[in-house]
Amino acid sequence: ASFAEPLPGGAPAVGGVPLAELADRFGTPAYIVDEGEIRARARAWKAALPGADVAYAGKAFLTRAMIRWIAEEGLHLDVCSAGELELAAHAGFPAERIILHGNAKSPDDLRTALRLGVGRIVIDSTCEIARIASLVPAGARQRVLVRVVPGVTAGAHVAVQTGMEGQKFGLPVAGGEAEEAVARILGQPRLELMGLHCHLGSQIASVNPYVTAVRRLVTLLERLRDVHGVTFPELDLGGGFAIAYRDGDHTIDPRAYAERVTAELSLRCAHADLPVPRLTVEPGRWIAGPAGVALYRVLAVKTTGTRTFVAVDGGMSDNPRPALYGVRYTVRLVGRASPIPARTMTVVGRHCEAGDVLAEDVPLPGDIRPGDVLAVPASGAYHVSMASSYNLVGRPPVVAVTDGRARLLVRRETLEDLRGRDVGE
Ligand code: LLP
Repeated sequence: ASFAEPLPGGAPAVGGVPLAELADRFGTPAYIVDEGEIRARARAWKAALPGADVAYAGKAFLTRAMIRWIAEEGLHLDVCSAGELELAAHAGFPAERIILHGNAKSPDDLRTALRLGVGRIVIDSTCEIARIASLVPAGARQRVLVRVVPGVTAGAHVAVQTGMEGQKFGLPVAGGEAEEAVARILGQPRLELMGLHCHLGSQIASVNPYVTAVRRLVTLLERLRDVHGVTFPELDLGGGFAIAYRDGDHTIDPRAYAERVTAELSLRCAHADLPVPRLTVEPGRWIAGPAGVALYRVLAVKTTGTRTFVAVDGGMSDNPRPALYGVRYTVRLVGRASPIPARTMTVVGRHCEAGDVLAEDVPLPGDIRPGDVLAVPASGAYHVSMASSYNLVGRPPVVAVTDGRARLLVRRETLEDLRGRDVGE
């Protein structure tokens, strides 16, 4: 990420703006996103898969500016709630390029999707087939995909593994539920089934599980053709592509993915004498993650026994990922150079529990002190979107940097915002 590139003089910067300057101007904690980096990463997927649709998974990070960048780069958008849909519509994102996901879509989610005219709704369970069909006006047809479970275990943590049986998403291929659902969808004249969808999991660091999934999905397509006499024009393989949180972490390269997945798909379809469906991929983290940096200010430094704790002004309310999935981050001191050698310290948040750890056992200069600014790279995905106001700490602002200029995208949540929803006596 551009975060790694120091400005002349050595100060770490994002999009040409020194991080320390951003901390002073916008306060801390704050989330910085590099527009150029987001656009470049969106383009990398488009370039790797020119014959495919690239749908950015909005759950990773969504603001109106982000939606506009994604639209301008020619991507599609994956959303999973009426909230994400409304924001996309408000930002002017073309509805026909939107895919609605969800294992439990609310009446509001579905009504909003149909009102806006989203391109695809992904059916996740048999009971929503008739429900969705009943909302489609007479004479119209809603295009849908069906989410199937290919029986592939992949993903960095059990909480984000969705490709195997025994978790809540999709309809298993192995148990016959997927085929049964396809038959039912085909019986609904107001639904047009465009193809299969699967999403294996998240932070997947190898292409192998995707290749296995392609093999199993083509086997299912073959059976659907043989038994039900249908073929489909689309195949959505979901997202889940790993990024580096620390040096040396394995990542997925879009070109390597494209090469192996399209080769496997062509080969298997040729063997089965099936038309090759148009691919969709749904990267979220890969596009947003490396383009974001979290900034904090140190509030306290404490050595107890053998451990040094560096407490900052944010924590698990703006980044619950270490506590939820055991994710390890790197942390850098910005705004001043330190001649003092690094020591191992643990960066903790300000929240009222011992599990509020941002980065365990990271090297930081031995003279770290209150007032210092710390930066956490790879904070662009699933931080802002998963932030809470635990302990009534307001959520941080989001700042975009482009060509050496910074602008506020989302303002800091104030005490008035927090109090305003509390309307009881
Ligand atoms: N498509 C579907 C249907 C998904 O459910 C997801 C993510 C994606 C695409 C994008 O996955 P990505 O490319 O971003 O890995 N909160 C967790 C990640 C949850 C992912 C949920 N689904 C985390 O912070 O690691």
